[in-house]
Amino acid sequence: MKITTHSGNWEEIEIDALAIPLEAEEALDSELNVRLDGLLGELVESGEWSGKRGVCTLIHRVPESSIKRLFLLGLGETPMPRHWFTAAGQAVRQAAKAQCRTVAILLPADADARLIAEGALYGFHRTSGYKEAKPWSVEEVILLSPTDVAEADRGKVTAEGVNLARELVEIPANDLGPEEFAMRAAQEGAAAGLEVEVLDEQALAQMGAGALLAVGQGSERPPRMVRLSWVPEEAASDDHLFLVGKGITFDTGGLSLKPANSMEKMKYDMGGAATMLGAITAIGRLRPNVRVTCLLAMAENMPSGKATRPGDIITALNGKTIEVINTDAEGRLVLADALTYATRLGATHIVNAATLTGAVTVALGNVRVALLGNDKGLSDAIALQGRNCGERFWPLPMDPEYLEPMKGDMSDLRNASAERSAGTITAGKFLEQFVDETPWAHLDIAGTCWVEKPQPHCGKGASGVAVRTLVRLAESWGS
Ligand code: BES
Ligand code: MN
Ligand code: ZN
Repeated sequence: MKITTHSGNWEEIEIDALAIPLEAEEALDSELNVRLDGLLGELVESGEWSGKRGVCTLIHRVPESSIKRLFLLGLGETPMPRHWFTAAGQAVRQAAKAQCRTVAILLPADADARLIAEGALYGFHRTSGYKEAKPWSVEEVILLSPTDVAEADRGKVTAEGVNLARELVEIPANDLGPEEFAMRAAQEGAAAGLEVEVLDEQALAQMGAGALLAVGQGSERPPRMVRLSWVPEEAASDDHLFLVGKGITFDTGGLSLKPANSMEKMKYDMGGAATMLGAITAIGRLRPNVRVTCLLAMAENMPSGKATRPGDIITALNGKTIEVINTDAEGRLVLADALTYATRLGATHIVNAATLTGAVTVALGNVRVALLGNDKGLSDAIALQGRNCGERFWPLPMDPEYLEPMKGDMSDLRNASAERSAGTITAGKFLEQFVDETPWAHLDIAGTCWVEKPQPHCGKGASGVAVRTLVRLAESWGS
């Protein structure tokens, strides 16, 4: 699907659909109202159009034009970036439903063309390949009036990263194990102009990545670690940002087996790695002047005769010993080694993303991403970029007391607490043990990485959350 801009009037171009996002109290386009014989005015008077957020009112024909559908999209009162984003996605989905090939979105001159382009492409994404379906009809989205083509292009590149993350998360684990995921990541990374390195199980063993290997050893499909680096020609500073992702291609819980009830969802447990892959591929194409490296820790968590047992004590890459209390707390183990590797490779800042704890859903539901870390400056920068693009984060505390339950009696650490309280924070404190003093932030996306109920701008499936924020973080680095 193409995204283009046009600086003139909608009547100058041939389109199948015209979408108009409007605020609740905003007057309907008076010129358009006249053109439609006062139809818009009637919709307001009859109360059929209220501008309520997320509501779409359909008009089936615009006389003397090619337009087959006119969509009035409610933005609600004082819309925020995320409402513009979702309205754009909604426009594309509505156009697809009506078999339209071209849809123009009528926007104010000061609209954020990037956000709209991102929303439009976001709306275009569909889970593909496993069910017969006609491809979506929409071929082109035309942004009317904001003519910042460069911004729209940046949005397009960013949304392609988001949709790559979503596509990968939606692939079932029979088709995406660590090896397949690593191969795809290498391919996507090379295409985006990144330096690529794949560490296989031998390389990981030689290196001493005992925590990642312990998680993967129950599976027939060996673990992988993938490194993807964006090296700018001229970096503005010596900073080296690392993006680290949890890539558990399926999480059965291991010998601490999860209940059957909704275990199928655990194909999404590589969502953190997919997020970081989506972000780094967009970064490779947007070419910011900061060095960025992405590390993806991939394994399948399975029970078997070779699986790690509860009570086993393993040695992580940084030499710390960990008693595995619960084999279902595997995400922090694979991340431990990836975080250590990041510090060894010279990270000056680290952000990791992971579907790490069920507890984050108890705390924040599926609305906000939990944001933890050891550096207020980095956390604030992430939250700020989130606000700019309509992604929501919420900080959680990291007091030293939260580490207590993770301290071992037979080992340096234990991978799970005996209590269930503050599960998201204790997991964060565990991760913190592997970054030394490096400024670091941890995004727990277990509650937000998957959309359960279809929305106006997207169906059920992966959300791609945090990709857009992280791309903006890299682009705005140092400014
Ligand atoms: N991948 C899960 C996190 C998860 C659990 C996401 C449930 C969505 C729903 C993670 O590996 C996990 O199992 N975490 C455990 C940790 C516990 C054993 C300390 C959890 O949250 O229950
Ligand atoms: Mn688990
Ligand atoms: Zn997991």
